[in-house]
Amino acid sequence: MIKQITSFEEYKEAYKQSIQNPEQFWGDIADSFTWKKKWDNVLSWDFEKPEVKWFDGAQLNITENCLDRHLAERGDKTAIIWEPNDPKDDVIKLTYKELHQKVCSFANMLKNNGAKKGDRICIYLPMVPELAIAALACARIGAVHSIVFAGFSASALSSRINDATCNLVITSDGSYRGTKTLDLKSIVDEALESCSTIEKSLVLKYTNGAVTMKPNRDVWIHEELTKVDNNCPAEVMNAEDMLFILYTSGSTGKPKGMVHTCAGYMVYSTFTFKNVFQYEEEDVYWCTADIGWITGHSYIMYGPLANGATTLMFEGVPTYPDGGRFWEVVAKHKVNQFYTAPTAIRALEKQPIEMVEKHDLSSLKVLGSVGEPINAEAWHWYDDHIGKNNAPIVDTWWQTETGGIMISSLGGVTPQQPTFATLPLPGIQPVLMDAEGKEIKSQEAEGRLAIKFPWPSMARTIYGDHKRYKETYFSAYANKYFTGDGALRDANGNYRITGRVDDVIIVSGHNLGTAPIEDVINEHDDVVESAIVGFPHDIKGSALYAYVILHDNVEGNDELRKEINNQISQAIGPIAKLDKVQFVSGLPKTRSGKIMRRILRKVAANEFDNLGDISTLLNPEVVEEIIGGVLV
Ligand code: WTA
Repeated sequence: MIKQITSFEEYKEAYKQSIQNPEQFWGDIADSFTWKKKWDNVLSWDFEKPEVKWFDGAQLNITENCLDRHLAERGDKTAIIWEPNDPKDDVIKLTYKELHQKVCSFANMLKNNGAKKGDRICIYLPMVPELAIAALACARIGAVHSIVFAGFSASALSSRINDATCNLVITSDGSYRGTKTLDLKSIVDEALESCSTIEKSLVLKYTNGAVTMKPNRDVWIHEELTKVDNNCPAEVMNAEDMLFILYTSGSTGKPKGMVHTCAGYMVYSTFTFKNVFQYEEEDVYWCTADIGWITGHSYIMYGPLANGATTLMFEGVPTYPDGGRFWEVVAKHKVNQFYTAPTAIRALEKQPIEMVEKHDLSSLKVLGSVGEPINAEAWHWYDDHIGKNNAPIVDTWWQTETGGIMISSLGGVTPQQPTFATLPLPGIQPVLMDAEGKEIKSQEAEGRLAIKFPWPSMARTIYGDHKRYKETYFSAYANKYFTGDGALRDANGNYRITGRVDDVIIVSGHNLGTAPIEDVINEHDDVVESAIVGFPHDIKGSALYAYVILHDNVEGNDELRKEINNQISQAIGPIAKLDKVQFVSGLPKTRSGKIMRRILRKVAANEFDNLGDISTLLNPEVVEEIIGGVLV
């Protein structure tokens, strides 16, 4: 199986080899996979074009690596544990054998409905086992899946379907989210009114909600499945054939369809899963993300399954039926590795501590964080109350574009450091760039984070727009991939991600990252969460405007503003003091939990007219409240 790094010394050695001889390093790792034909060439690359190819000439199918090759030894091992929204409903467990059969049947059904290699197929499903099955079935037949998070609106869905010119869509009658039932089919129906390329819509019967089936277009999956068998040889794919498209929003313009290809993505997601989480054969691993995001693609489906792991899929929300649900699920399934986002940690931190303490969390061995910088307070709460100071935290920095984890400690193997993602994984060559666009050579430094060498799972292009791919990622610095993030590096080479560089605020000529200041604010006992943006200031250029959520029953007043500022003064310096502090009940967030700073910046600048599209927000209602309370 895949190479496992088990000591800091081994990590250092692996890292050194991966830099000195990347082709040998990745070639050796790739050797442990199942190939129909081995590669001619491990790597060829040109960041000018840009063009990157890994394992060119090789042929494979990722599903043989995720399924078939486990059948002999792990056929009866649980591949997927599915935990439903309602804890009273039945858990579903699928063994590798069962998952293999279901994927093959689903794949045959897709073919029966006109799907073929190279087609783009949109998947818009709740977090049910069929979501993973559908994605794997696409991969089985060489079709390209484009999974759209089933919380996006009809217009967001139709623009993604049209951008990728999908010919099939897979959806369900509905979905459950906490106490709510959502009518997915009618969202799809609305979206399809403006999608001319869709020929078939395959519908999963799940909530039994009323739906309208359009003749010649809409078919029921359970009916179609009766027409096929479960024998489906895997399509032979070239290493650089497309595996999937996944949309991510840019700072401007329409969402970017990031294209990931078969071989490099498989090798890297598998290698990083094993090593970051230190997964052992009998472990139960749980990532709380939705498969609609890259975290779910790489670390619920492909990475775990290619390792023969038991991966848990959770349909529900962290606060249903109560704020102890995550911990209840950990105890119920004896979860060993738990991977979530700082936004969830902060929300659960607000719950009474009994919600945590009444559950047995002793199975936990590694805790993970992803998606945004984790603030010190959340880090320590996670460490103290969830890991009981006995489960290492891996703070994993990466992006939809990178396909896999780039900078992170390896659970319990390399040192952790609160709020630091720490060291690059083998093969990853990060650099920090200064304001003039030059690489900063000194070890201790702060700058813009770029990567100067290709890694196997990097996105190869933006679907249909290679020019934009080049402009967005390869134009800021010659011969480097630009991440859009800022970072600092300490004397030991550890990286701390300071946030998107578009969030850097220059106050009186000083660069201030928002994350470290927010960190300090969040440490105040009365504060739940905060977000800082810059607003135009006559003398300083920009000044800091903070939106602060307080604990229930705390009154936001000038005294508190002063306390917060004193705390900032002490922790960072008077330069980072806030000019304005607005107390709010919530922050506008995307459905993946990211704060929409664009909106906060506009409001802080008193530009209320042109807030852009707020319809895809998780909580559009807070925007009005924030505008109502703005400080002028
Ligand atoms: C941010 C999610 C700090 C970062 C996998 C990045 C992080 C963006 C971390 C990508 C982390 C992700 N620490 N920041 N551990 N992980 N980010 O595409 O700004 O949804 O560029 O991928 O999230 O978000 P995306």
